[in-house]
Amino acid sequence: MDNNNFLITDDSIMRHSYKYIISKIGIKPFYVNKDENSTFFKVDCLNVLDSIPHDSINMIFADPPYFLSNGGMTCHAGKRVSVDKGDWDKSMGIEATHVFNIEWLRRCQNVLTKDGTIWVSGTSHIIYSIGFAMQQLGFKILNDIAWYKINPPPNLSCRYFTHATETVLWAAKNKMSKHYFNYPLMRKMNNNKQMQSLWSITAPKPEEKIYGKHPTQKPIALLERIVLASTKKNDIVLDPFTGSSTTGIAAYRLGRYFIGIDNKKEYLDKSVKRLNFEQRNKHDVRQEIKKVEKEVEKLVAV
Ligand SMILES: C[S@@+](CC[C@H](N)C(=O)[O-])C[C@H]1O[C@@H](n2cnc3c(N)ncnc32)[C@H](O)[C@@H]1O
Repeated sequence: MDNNNFLITDDSIMRHSYKYIISKIGIKPFYVNKDENSTFFKVDCLNVLDSIPHDSINMIFADPPYFLSNGGMTCHAGKRVSVDKGDWDKSMGIEATHVFNIEWLRRCQNVLTKDGTIWVSGTSHIIYSIGFAMQQLGFKILNDIAWYKINPPPNLSCRYFTHATETVLWAAKNKMSKHYFNYPLMRKMNNNKQMQSLWSITAPKPEEKIYGKHPTQKPIALLERIVLASTKKNDIVLDPFTGSSTTGIAAYRLGRYFIGIDNKKEYLDKSVKRLNFEQRNKHDVRQEIKKVEKEVEKLVAV
């Protein structure tokens, strides 16, 4: 009998947990990839987070609506345009926004493992509400990362400084959490110097938008750093506002399991195209390696 059939590896335990979580969600996924490590759901996250088992998710990245599409103006490709990311981004008023933030953050806190962490991005429109909600719920705030966009659009009114940063809050489930931080890797990635909380990362590159752009798409470099800093291989990552699934692409590239939720089909369609592109490339590379290995075998046999 082949003993390998009975080997219990970290990967097999995590794969089992992942499948269990997906089965508990109780609605048909919008998409599951071929490798069965990335799953998208088309649903309001408030209606589904409660069905995810408590203490099951290692890391959450959330890029919630900033509620900033309220008739203001911005500069896009050198032109003055009104800020309109979609109906989902129109403000409901500060009190309602805070209630919304508490509601989804509370659900996220429940599903995190005891040592799990959450990252939430935002601008001044929501980040103070997010930070206050985190304090009210008893999260332990670990860092407030200032993401410096390096080449932001100019401020056309010339009545303010150019908006050049976003904040990304990093928090552990609660005060008791022993969160994971890949300090050595972050140090290595920063020329062997301790990495600071100021991250200089440009907006998504054109090749990240070949399947059409999401109006608030995050750069893949930002998400790769977040995934590498706070998760181990085979960990389970959740994004409750997944959009075009930049988090899912980073998780897939780095060998983590992924669950992405969004209530808009058009954005999940983009997510599927992006993920398929990643898979095709990965498989192409694998096939290429196999081809070369076979060629070498042939040469050695001669
Ligand atoms: C800021 S965007 C996320 C962009 C994403 N980080 C990316 O890189 O493409 C927020 C997303 O949340 C979705 N959304 C808004 N309210 C939602 C809700 N209640 N449940 C699930 N998704 C929601 C929107 O459709 C939008 O795609």
